[in-house]
Amino acid sequence: MSRFVAKSLDGYKKLYDESINSPETFWAEFSKNEFSWIRHWDSVFTFDWSKAKFSWFAGAKVNITQNCIDRHLEKNGQKTAILFEPDDPNEKSQHISYQNLFEEVNKTANMLKSMGAKKGDRICLYMPMIPELAFSVLACAKIGAIHSVVFAGFSSKSLSNRINDAKCRFLITSDGGLRGEKITPLKKIADQALELCPSIEKVVVVRRAKNEITMKAGRDFWWDALIENQSKECQVEIMDAEDPLFILYTSGSTGKPKGMVHSSAGYMVYTNFSFRNVFQYKPNQIYWCTADIGWITGHSYIIYGPLSAGATTVMFEGVPNYPNPGRFWEIIDKHKINIFYTAPTAIRSLASHGQNQLKNKRLSTLEVLGTVGEPINEEAWQWYFEHIGKHNCPIVDTWWQTETGGIMISNLANVTPHKATFATLPLPGIQVNLLDKDGRELKETDAEGNLCIKHPWPSMARTIYGDHQRFINTYFSRFPKHYFTGDGAKRDADGNYRITGRVDDIVIVSGHNLGTAEIENIINQHPSVAESAVVGYPHKKKGNAIYAFVQLKTQDQIQNFNAEINALVSKTLGPICKPEKVQTCLALPKTRSGKIMRRILRKIASNDLENLGDVSTLLNPACIDEIKENRIND
Ligand code: WT7
Repeated sequence: MSRFVAKSLDGYKKLYDESINSPETFWAEFSKNEFSWIRHWDSVFTFDWSKAKFSWFAGAKVNITQNCIDRHLEKNGQKTAILFEPDDPNEKSQHISYQNLFEEVNKTANMLKSMGAKKGDRICLYMPMIPELAFSVLACAKIGAIHSVVFAGFSSKSLSNRINDAKCRFLITSDGGLRGEKITPLKKIADQALELCPSIEKVVVVRRAKNEITMKAGRDFWWDALIENQSKECQVEIMDAEDPLFILYTSGSTGKPKGMVHSSAGYMVYTNFSFRNVFQYKPNQIYWCTADIGWITGHSYIIYGPLSAGATTVMFEGVPNYPNPGRFWEIIDKHKINIFYTAPTAIRSLASHGQNQLKNKRLSTLEVLGTVGEPINEEAWQWYFEHIGKHNCPIVDTWWQTETGGIMISNLANVTPHKATFATLPLPGIQVNLLDKDGRELKETDAEGNLCIKHPWPSMARTIYGDHQRFINTYFSRFPKHYFTGDGAKRDADGNYRITGRVDDIVIVSGHNLGTAEIENIINQHPSVAESAVVGYPHKKKGNAIYAFVQLKTQDQIQNFNAEINALVSKTLGPICKPEKVQTCLALPKTRSGKIMRRILRKIASNDLENLGDVSTLLNPACIDEIKENRIND
């Protein structure tokens, strides 16, 4: 076992201190021995906060797939790398060994090359959770193409925006995605998107749902036909440490999503380091993260982190409540899962179904539980601990972001203590600061403020694709010499952190990070809408839900208005962005400078009507009473 994986609370503290006192030696020593490098680095890291320029392991040559696959072949070629559990419980699961994975990734890489793909090309993956998605991600990495995975729940408009932003040359998709009894017509959605995407040259289609689709001659090709005669051997592309590995989009507070760009070496080092420390993975354990590969959690903790650590990682195609709410627990028993990592929203939703789902479920193989995506409330935490972990499993509450690439604050399973609703302590290498609104560091342990990071770490995003200025503005200008997370946090007397939620215009709905501005832009497209303001409010199952306040152009009642708004948002952004409540109002509260005061609307949406705070700067305070009066109750 590596000395860089903490084994006790004391060991964690020593490792942490070492990582802070001499970050350069810490990361150099860890990285030197734990990975296979084609060439070593010239410098461990360099940074310039004001330009938001960061580099890790500059000068090194590496390919992440050698580290995730090739180097395990000799000792562990027959070990299961990916355990695929299909949507339909009656369909056979697949055990894909490291040797199989090696061959499949090589064939896929050769297929991409035969289409003309090369290092630096952007390739969009719009796919369900099937093995071909994992093969495609790794095949891109193998040949140095930059993957841009778009979650298969996104609409055609969201897909075309993302493809165009990165000017992707190729798209890999499937006929349809299976989710419960439903089929998502992915190819059909992609066809609509591609009408707006001139950069796409070729489309590869995986046969999965067997739904009817149309294939455009010369552009669309079946995966099976292309892959058939590909060789099982493929040279890796030699990557510079700082060459981009992938782009992944996350919502921003202006309408346009941000294409976060991650690096090759730093991302590899930190996803491996954090995976092993947080989950304390031991050889032969079966690890399951229920996220979709369309989100960062799937990138870092289904694919890259676990595979680089030589783990067996489970990939589940389906949904938690199909064919019944016991599906997760059935899979845990079936595959003897030891480590289970999911989202608070899934826990809350399953908990609401009562205890029947747990009948005849043993759950006896579980050793470690985890959560990610949003703050977990006390009730959900206790249910998880008691009914799933049977009081025997620590729960790692992992705080991080698409931008951070890997887990930043979390307890380490059985090494540092858990504390319900707290993400607890920063990982070694992660220097957390709480700053007040004027940027002053809050030095006392017991404090609450803006959550910031004061030293670069290996897996931080390097830029926003095509817009470095936005990268600087969003993360590095609010507080000098700090990365600003956009979250607020509290710190208790023992130094444990509890995330209090976003301090900006992002709402986390069922673990999905939604930009309110993006939703407002869509609502404003409705011909009767003058203006809208979208805020989040606490919701029992979803964590947060969307409340839209809409000012109409005229005061006439419009029939089916809410349904139209819902349909519009669903169609353009995807059903997860649909507002839970739509309230029309005579006017929106505005400051004299014309800025909508969302802070007040947030309070009204949360039914916190008495403490609206200072309304003295409002131009039109009278509108508040009307909005309060017509508030939509649950
Ligand atoms: C935002 C990032 C990290 C992968 C999934 C979401 C919230 C995330 C926690 C947690 C409290 C959390 C934060 C963060 N968040 N994990 N354990 N406790 N809040 O990635 O879509 O980039 O969203 O999710 O608000 O900023 P993302």
